[in-house]
Amino acid sequence: MKKWIMAIDQGTSSTRCVLFDLNGIPVASDQMEFEQIYPQSGWVEHDPNQIWDTVLLTCKNAMKKAQANAAQIIGIGITNQRETTLVWNKKTGQVVYNAIVWQDRRTAKQCDDIKQTKMADVIWKKTGLIVDPYFSASKIRWILDHNENLQNQASKGELCFGTVDCYLLFKLTKGESFKTDVTNASRTMLFNIQTKQWDDQLLTLFNIPKHMLPEVFDNGANFGVTDLFGADIPILAMAGDQHAAMIGQACFKTGQVKSTYGTGCFMMSQLERNFRLSQYHLLTTIAFQFKGDTHYALEGSIFMAGATIQWLRDNLQVINDASDTSEHANKVGADNPVILIPAFVGLGAPYWNADATASIIGMTRDTTQSHIITAALQSSVYQTYDLLFAMEQDSQKKINEIKVDGAMVNNQWLMQFLADITTSEIKQPINIETTAQGIAYAVMLQAGLFASLTDIENAWQCQNSYHPKMELSLRDALILRWKQALQKVL
Ligand code: G3P
Repeated sequence: MKKWIMAIDQGTSSTRCVLFDLNGIPVASDQMEFEQIYPQSGWVEHDPNQIWDTVLLTCKNAMKKAQANAAQIIGIGITNQRETTLVWNKKTGQVVYNAIVWQDRRTAKQCDDIKQTKMADVIWKKTGLIVDPYFSASKIRWILDHNENLQNQASKGELCFGTVDCYLLFKLTKGESFKTDVTNASRTMLFNIQTKQWDDQLLTLFNIPKHMLPEVFDNGANFGVTDLFGADIPILAMAGDQHAAMIGQACFKTGQVKSTYGTGCFMMSQLERNFRLSQYHLLTTIAFQFKGDTHYALEGSIFMAGATIQWLRDNLQVINDASDTSEHANKVGADNPVILIPAFVGLGAPYWNADATASIIGMTRDTTQSHIITAALQSSVYQTYDLLFAMEQDSQKKINEIKVDGAMVNNQWLMQFLADITTSEIKQPINIETTAQGIAYAVMLQAGLFASLTDIENAWQCQNSYHPKMELSLRDALILRWKQALQKVL
């Protein structure tokens, strides 16, 4: 009888389910986009019912495609958009408000107020995070303030807070399991990443009762059992999507770097067991934890990458599909006078400016939509360069190799431009859906199919690599053009 591993990848723009065979090879998958809700400028929400419906449907569709039944699935792994905040009733499972998405800026003022106090430094040292609306804590506070009864219900222990992993686990187990993992916990701004405990001082600061929070586990654990697909299936792994990608990319040695191009772009550099705070506005985060062994990473978070291409498609309607961008970029070439600063939801690392707004700079009478489309693509690379520069300064070492993944890496023009601007070798693995791959590997570790991280290193294979080709004088001029444009919005 064939056996499978089910990977649920609940991202910001879409939900995906991938079935892997027991060698860790992807065999069948299904994907669905869902609605992005923008109730006000700077606000971003998801309907939790849509998240849940797309999870159930993609899982069932992937099972159909693989002709798999539930009894053949040895374990489920859940990986997810991080920080996105849900609060629900413990008894009924009913959410009290929509999911507030990580990109949402509604709590910018609250965060600015904290930044004026000494608590910003306390938060940074305990959580590795820079105070910003990006993280969950201020979003939970906003939800509890939204309706006057909610704080009271929270105090009485009637409400649960969870990130998407925790919410999906609660739904899959029909309310039996209220758990999360260390990587998702590390993005809430309430979790001390050295003691690996919810932090009482931070809970007091945000006035969040501790019993609202889930129990925290390793990335591989017995998280619970679901019977929703026709037989009991254990949930054996959970991890935030960027951490799962780090596992899938086999970035286990100090200084190994991965960059994932999804809705946003998230670059992580492995620190192994050495917790260290960045001096260059990067975050410190738990990379992953298996059998109590914690690996840390430095992270640079860019809020808009694939989402900028989605904006071209859905708002400007200048492309029908992301793949159309290559043709425009080939026409315009790298030396594009137009720069797009994609501060649609403020700017993340290394700028951390929640109030910045997006701009297109450098247009003249002959500017065409191709210039703007190319500038949108290039903005992901220029932002990656800024992160890489911060990481290199931080470690005092040149980064010679970046492992990339996510849908955007299919764009060969973009990957060559990335190699040219970063002057690093860009390596693309066979499976660019590395997030799902990583959580499948985590299931395999927990199920004993892999003995150690070395098995994952051995399984990693390079599909394409890109080497820098551009004249350095042009590269430097382009970076200067980006920096000058950026100054106009900061
Ligand atoms: O921190 C947010 C991140 O986890 C979102 O990932 O893949 O939806 O861009 P993605």
